[in-house]
Formats: sequence, C-alpha cells, structure tokens
Amino acid sequence: RAEFILLPVAAYLIGAIPFGFLIGKLNGVDIRKVGSGNIGATNVTRSVGKTAGKICFGCDFLKGLLPVLLTGLFLPQYPWLTLAVGLATLLGHIFPVYLKFKGGKGVATAAGVAMAMAPWPLLIGLAVWAGTFLATRYVSLASIVAAAVVPVLAVIFRLCGVGNPVSTSWITIGFLTLIALLAILRHIGNIARLLNGTENRFEKKKAQSE
Ligand code: G3P
Repeated sequence: RAEFILLPVAAYLIGAIPFGFLIGKLNGVDIRKVGSGNIGATNVTRSVGKTAGKICFGCDFLKGLLPVLLTGLFLPQYPWLTLAVGLATLLGHIFPVYLKFKGGKGVATAAGVAMAMAPWPLLIGLAVWAGTFLATRYVSLASIVAAAVVPVLAVIFRLCGVGNPVSTSWITIGFLTLIALLAILRHIGNIARLLNGTENRFEKKKAQSE
C-alpha cells in the first residue's frame, strides 16, 4: 500500500524543516555559524533571543507530535506505521535534506514524538529537564538526563500497571529507548565539553541593581 511508503517519506520531509535555521535567517543570523552551531531551540535562544527560542522549540516539538498523532488517529490499525512515522520525523530533523543532512540534536522533536506515544512519562521527563537545568544551568545535561529518564519511566509505569497499554507496551518502550539514544548520541560534543568544563552555561540573570 502506497501510504506505507508515502507517510514516512512525508514525515521525513516535515521533520527536516529546519525551523531554527529559518528563524535565525529571519533575524539575519546563520544559526549554524554562531554559538554551538546547532539548529535547535537552545542555540536559537542563545544567539537570537528567548522568544525566538520558544517559537523554535514549539515548532520542532509540534513537527514531532502532529505526524505521529495524526497517523495514530487515522490509521490506528497499523501501529507500526506510527512508529515508522515518528522515527522518520526525528531522522528528518537530525539529517535534513534541506541542509545537506546536517541537522539538530533531536531533543524537541523526540519530545514531540514521545508526547504522542507516552504523554505521562514525557511530561515527567520535562519536569526532570527543568529540575536538571535549574540545578546546573546546562541545557545539554538537562536534555541528556531527561532523554534517559523517559524510557525508564515508561518501564516503571508498565511494571506498576499505570498508563494505557499502548504507551507501556514493550514495543513502545523499545522505540522510546531508540529515540532517546539517538538524541543522546547527538550530544557527544556537549558531553566532551561537559567533561572538560567548557560547556556553555545559561547563567542566571543577575538581579537588577537600583
Ligand atoms: O537540545 C539541544 C541542547 O541539549 C544542547 O544545545 O546548542 O547547547 O548544543 P546546544
């Protein structure tokens, strides 16, 4: 059936839309040449501004969420197609055809995909992200910890019999592990910088003096 090929291809092309790069361009910045050089929301925040970063996160998150949600909604009889669409979207973000296959780290897009599949583990993962960031001021560390925590939470939910059967099936858990690993592997440069103490930190804003 044609949709088995067409939907993952369309998902890849949607995932490949480099929102961070486009937002940078609209603001006169080539996001690949400033800050960490990454096209994600963190580097957009760092190099363009907070609002631009939030918009970038929202767009990258939605491009992960919507294709998976819509596939599950309209073709629920093919659960594996939902997984293929989710993976294709994430691979599109990480290896975008529009930017010579040099894309982002996949955190926001993987979060969107995971939101569609296992919303509770993902929401707790977001809280873990926030806690880690507030404690350390390292976005990369927060992303790595949160990515690792989401599949573990899905396993805990399964063992405790909480959550719906699809979100906590071993196939979903395996898939969540795969996308988490992909996002973590994209942070190898960050991990090296974290270890040698040169990772970029978002310092707390100093209280304004009178
Ligand atoms: O989501 C990406 C983030 O974890 C790190 O971004 O720009 O600091 O490499 P960056």
